[in-house]
Amino acid sequence: NFPKEVVIIEVGPRDGLQNEPQFVDTEIKKAFIQKLAAAGIKEMELTSFVSPKWVPQMKDAGEIVQSAPEGVRGIVLAPNRKGIERVLETPCKSVAVFVGVSNTFNRKNINKSTRESMEELQPAIEELKAKNFFVRACISTAFYCPYEGKIQEDDTLALCREFVAAGVDELSVADTIGMAAPHESYSLFSRLKEALPDVLLAAHFHDTRKMALANTYAALEAGVNRFDSSAGGLGGCPFAPGATGNVATEDVVYMLGRMGIETSIDLDKLVAAVDTVAPVISRQIDTGYYRLSKQG
Ligand code: HMG
Ligand code: MG
Repeated sequence: NFPKEVVIIEVGPRDGLQNEPQFVDTEIKKAFIQKLAAAGIKEMELTSFVSPKWVPQMKDAGEIVQSAPEGVRGIVLAPNRKGIERVLETPCKSVAVFVGVSNTFNRKNINKSTRESMEELQPAIEELKAKNFFVRACISTAFYCPYEGKIQEDDTLALCREFVAAGVDELSVADTIGMAAPHESYSLFSRLKEALPDVLLAAHFHDTRKMALANTYAALEAGVNRFDSSAGGLGGCPFAPGATGNVATEDVVYMLGRMGIETSIDLDKLVAAVDTVAPVISRQIDTGYYRLSKQG
């Protein structure tokens, strides 16, 4: 009962790079984005309009957004009204807002309670929809929080419902610290699919405990056909201690390919995209497919 096709939302240029301690040159970021598009990526988080004091790596957002490749849905993150105002000055037409189910995490990440963020974002989403924007809502700490521990499914579901009522096109439901187990992935995504059948639903897994591919499989079984992933397995939120990389795009694409599920992504070209950033990032790229491709 698996989908025939899956859409990958590449988050490498955003989630993948935001936690890198050394500033990655803007031209390298642009080359990374172009090569990801050349590999067949059709939807991509390009950058974030966040405070450069909080996340210096994203200080070139205004320039990056200008380089969105043709034919790709280039999404930018915005945490608040100020971020959305900055986006409105660019040609970009796709925005992702982000909120944590956990109050403590939301405070660490956005300096507001979850409720305060929702009060600010709900009217802003309505305005974006009136301007024909594609709006995505990233739901952080949907399973576990590094500060509060286990998150109740009902609380995640309730926040997702609020975003759908506000008019978002897509929910990206995240295991921020890579702590969900496959039965929890299956359970939450099954409930979301049933409760909110008319919204696009993406799963966003971090691979901190090496459970991201298993969680991906479980979400597929629950009917999810959109997955966020990061080329090279880069990624992590600076305000979620211990949150290491996102599930690697090449490993998800490889697994789906072996299952006969189409993604339209070329693995060799994806490796070439990873090669553009591999020399300038702080970690060794250690994903299964990338490593094997280098052994020839
Ligand atoms: P704050 O310090 O509370 O902001 O930060 P403020 O409203 O008090 O304003 C202070 C100053 O920041 C002002 O400037 C504002 O104009 C400016 P000043 O008057 O001092 O010159 N400011 C901004 N500048 C640029 N862009 C903005 C902006 N907003 C205010 N948007 C703020 C609040 C939200 C800005 C800050 O906490 C922030 O930038 N947080 C972003 C954190 C972040 O990027 N986290 C990573 C992304 S989320 C993630 O990775 C999770 C995800 O992958 C899913 C998952 O895995 O869970 C999506
Ligand atoms: Mg993330």
